[in-house]
Amino acid sequence: MAVYQIVEIGDEVLREKAKPVPKVTANIIKLLDNMADTLAAAKGVGLAAPQIGISKRVVVIDIGEGLIELINPELVEQEGEETDSEGCLSIPGVFGEVTRSARVVVTALNRKGEQIKIEGRDLLARALQHEIDHLEGVLFVDKARNVSGKQG
Ligand code: CO
Repeated sequence: MAVYQIVEIGDEVLREKAKPVPKVTANIIKLLDNMADTLAAAKGVGLAAPQIGISKRVVVIDIGEGLIELINPELVEQEGEETDSEGCLSIPGVFGEVTRSARVVVTALNRKGEQIKIEGRDLLARALQHEIDHLEGVLFVDKARNVSGKQG
């Protein structure tokens, strides 16, 4: 078990476009394991590798229905619109309303290097979009309205 320190807004790694993973190696699998530990320790819903200072396209999500691991995720379908409150482990204490697609389909690689496709609605759709934004260097506060709390 390894829990990483989560980097916070102001760190430039959060603003970089993360690099695609060319091959799922043992190091990537270890990264997934450690990201899952970090997410659980932080009691978060999702974590992208840039949030632990690693500029790679790797994401873990757990909305309470089991861990989802995504390598090189891509949004391939988006439908509808929904506005809800959002926060981020890298921007502690700050919340805001973000309008996102209500349903999305994402393709990615799993830890075996296999192509997978997942569909998410509501909270899962929101988490998928939030985490994929991290890979583009986009933070929820860039899109949020009615932001409350202290912003670093
Ligand atoms: Co976030």
